[in-house]
Amino acid sequence: MLIKKESDMNKTETSNSSTVPAASPFVLASLPYAESALEPVITAHTIGFHYGKHHKGYVDNLNKLVAGTEYAELSLEKIIAATAGQAEKAPIFNNAAQIWNHTFYWNSMKPKGGGEPPAALKQRMEAAFGSVDACKKELAGTAVSQFGSGWAWLVLDGDKLKIVKTANADTPLTTGLKPLLTVDVWEHAYYLDYQNRRADYVTALLDKLINWEFALQNIG
Ligand code: FE2
Repeated sequence: MLIKKESDMNKTETSNSSTVPAASPFVLASLPYAESALEPVITAHTIGFHYGKHHKGYVDNLNKLVAGTEYAELSLEKIIAATAGQAEKAPIFNNAAQIWNHTFYWNSMKPKGGGEPPAALKQRMEAAFGSVDACKKELAGTAVSQFGSGWAWLVLDGDKLKIVKTANADTPLTTGLKPLLTVDVWEHAYYLDYQNRRADYVTALLDKLINWEFALQNIG
């Protein structure tokens, strides 16, 4: 998945004029559904803050951090790769990775999701975990057990499905794993709706919102 930048035309216009402030190169990707579309599992209230404030905040922060730097012209994926593991670049990495992770998260859910995965994904789940339920159970357990803020992921490790968790802004992109879907377990993802009941949020998301088709598309 690529995060789009603003159009070249816009950037050219900006670069041709010294009086126009630099255009913000990164844009907040549109939600793939209405803010209320995931109710009642995740309310529009939560999405309004999560997407409209948190996700947007990462985009605004990154644009400020990279303006005029060597990173300004890079793709989000390249910024993440170039700054991972470097303490002095942590603010850039954190905001870039959080933009990517959140866009991926929105696409990992859909209204009326959950249910039976497509056959091709189901076969891979059975091969790796024994059953779809075992895969979901491991994903839920991983999401619930992530200490503090972070993410639970279904990934492809070589040609095998695997479940991993990452802390804070970390993403499997930096460890050679191919993300297939993710669950955000930062408190901002569920606290307004579920308070401290993270397990209830994760279970409801996996049963009613998870977008198995998106995971299959990402296998490619
Ligand atoms: Fe989040």
